Amino acid sequence: MADEIVSVNEFQVLARQALPKMYYDFYAGGAEDEHTLKKNVQEFQRIILQPRVLVDVSSIAMSTNILGYTISAPIMIAPTAMHKLAHPEGELATARAAAACNTIMILSFSASASVEEVASSCNAVQFFQLYVYKRRDIAVNLVQRAEKSGYKAIVLTSDTPRLGRREADIKNKMIVPQLKNLEGLMSTAVASDKGSNLEAYANETMDPSLSWRDIAWLKSITNLPILIKGILTREDATKAMEVGAAGIIVSNHGGRQLDYTPATISVLEEVVQAVGRKVPVLLDGGVRRGTDVFKALALGAQAVLVGRPVIYGLAAKGEAGVRKVMHMLKDELELTMALAGYRSSRILKLHSSIVSDHPMLTC
Ligand code: FNR
Repeated sequence: MADEIVSVNEFQVLARQALPKMYYDFYAGGAEDEHTLKKNVQEFQRIILQPRVLVDVSSIAMSTNILGYTISAPIMIAPTAMHKLAHPEGELATARAAAACNTIMILSFSASASVEEVASSCNAVQFFQLYVYKRRDIAVNLVQRAEKSGYKAIVLTSDTPRLGRREADIKNKMIVPQLKNLEGLMSTAVASDKGSNLEAYANETMDPSLSWRDIAWLKSITNLPILIKGILTREDATKAMEVGAAGIIVSNHGGRQLDYTPATISVLEEVVQAVGRKVPVLLDGGVRRGTDVFKALALGAQAVLVGRPVIYGLAAKGEAGVRKVMHMLKDELELTMALAGYRSSRILKLHSSIVSDHPMLTC
């Protein structure tokens, strides 16, 4: 029962029990050796907290502001594909949970419910994540539908010119169902005799020529702010600033694209330094504890996004499971702040310093 669950990681065990192997592997897996997948978690664990005591923490402010929208805690929902493979209510349940938690969900381009269905399922602030296909008319169609449906920002995923090699999906011959947003625009049924049709489908459709120059094109088709997801270097952070990104998401796609990229928490400071305070920097990858959120905030993130734990919560308990995951992370963050001597999640980064060889956050 959800009530007996005391940590986010326990939902992974329940999800594994609830899901067919093919789907569990699709959600849990990463690219090739899964080095980055593991590092995302392990590098958080290497950072040690040095708390301050005798601080009045009787009142703790958890809320933050993302592009002008106030959310109850600096923890948002990352865009992840095909929630209906995890639970029959899919993204509609996830969106209701996001609304109940007063946070922002980023709806995936590859969702199993349409932008319109998800928008009308609740009145939460939602962003829409975009992949750019060779057929640019699809991006135009979806961005304009998202804008019309009330989404507040476009999140351009920049790390997927081709799909990473996810060996579990190849072995399981993972099949992509018809993507709901593309109904009537494109069939997603691409046959593959080699294994995963996901890989064949993505490689046939994704536009590998997408480049920094195309941000101007994207801006020309929407008035919404554009965040760029998948930044891991100061150089690309600087470029994102130059092309007018409204925000940056430090992400390695949860270790599903290029393997042996650094853990996101390891490169966060570098990106934050390049960006200055011009736009919000968000981070995803490996966030499983409130202490992880705290560490990301201390190193300069405005908020974190959570990917797999949300799917595991959904698979195990539907909307209630997603709510539980988000609440647990928020409660753990609040406790961490109290025990570390912090009253506000907004000022964390002002007080942090990091010792490079033996990472330690001095509060
Ligand atoms: C993803 N991710 C992803 N990203 C994106 O931009 N569009 C997408 O459709 C998806 N789909 C997707 C499916 C699944 C099953 C996973 C696990 C991930 C990446 C996602 O947004 C995020 O970067 C990572 O999930 C963050 O890492 P954690 O929290 O899963 O460790």
